[in-house]
Amino acid sequence: MKVLLINGSPKANGNTAIAVGEMERVFAEQGIETEIIHVGNKAVRGCIGCNKCAEKGRCVFDDIVNETAPKFEAADGIVVATPVYYASANGTVVSFMDRLFYSTPFDKTMKVGATVAVCRRGGASATFDQINKYFTIANMPVASSQYWNSVHGRAPGEAAQDAEGLQTLRVLARNMSFLIKSIALGREKYGLPETEDHVWTHFIH
Ligand SMILES: Cc1cc2nc3c(=O)[nH]c(=O)nc-3n(C[C@H](O)[C@H](O)[C@H](O)COP(=O)(O)O)c2cc1C
Repeated sequence: MKVLLINGSPKANGNTAIAVGEMERVFAEQGIETEIIHVGNKAVRGCIGCNKCAEKGRCVFDDIVNETAPKFEAADGIVVATPVYYASANGTVVSFMDRLFYSTPFDKTMKVGATVAVCRRGGASATFDQINKYFTIANMPVASSQYWNSVHGRAPGEAAQDAEGLQTLRVLARNMSFLIKSIALGREKYGLPETEDHVWTHFIH
């Protein structure tokens, strides 16, 4: 069982890295394999809506998105950790998530998702809601903790002092491990839920 940990910060050793590291340690204790993918330091352009991915099964821009896609397909869960910029996930993370979710044709049903927002003071819960929306349009259950997942700090390293934030992430990683293991058992016993052909309407017809 494997979880991808996305570090959306441009900084390799910033507060987002501290958040990701805290979860990585718990996943290891729980026997869940992890891979950290540093996205925030890459040049990730936004989606241009060309829809070529519908033919090719991959994005026309061959970058970290296409590199991550097969890893995401093989993973049982994904944690997206992002610094908060102007009460939102930072632009790199938004471009990455738009293109990763839009361009990949594989079924994401029952892969477990979790969002971690890292900020100085404000915008964490808006960012949490924003990223969870990618999961909840893709039949992915969202792992939760005992608080909305956020860690606080401004200068790199300060997040290490946020005792409640880090505890929230340890609990999150434990809950997520349990969910992933339970889903694996449920899949064996009951199979995945029945699906329906998607009905697409545009409110005007
Ligand atoms: C462009 C920019 C916008 C920011 N906007 C916010 C914000 O809206 N709310 C907040 O609390 N912190 C904001 N911050 C602070 C970062 O979220 C904070 O320093 C965080 O710890 C950075 O994580 P990192 O060290 O992993 O990059 C902003 C930082 C930058 C560079």
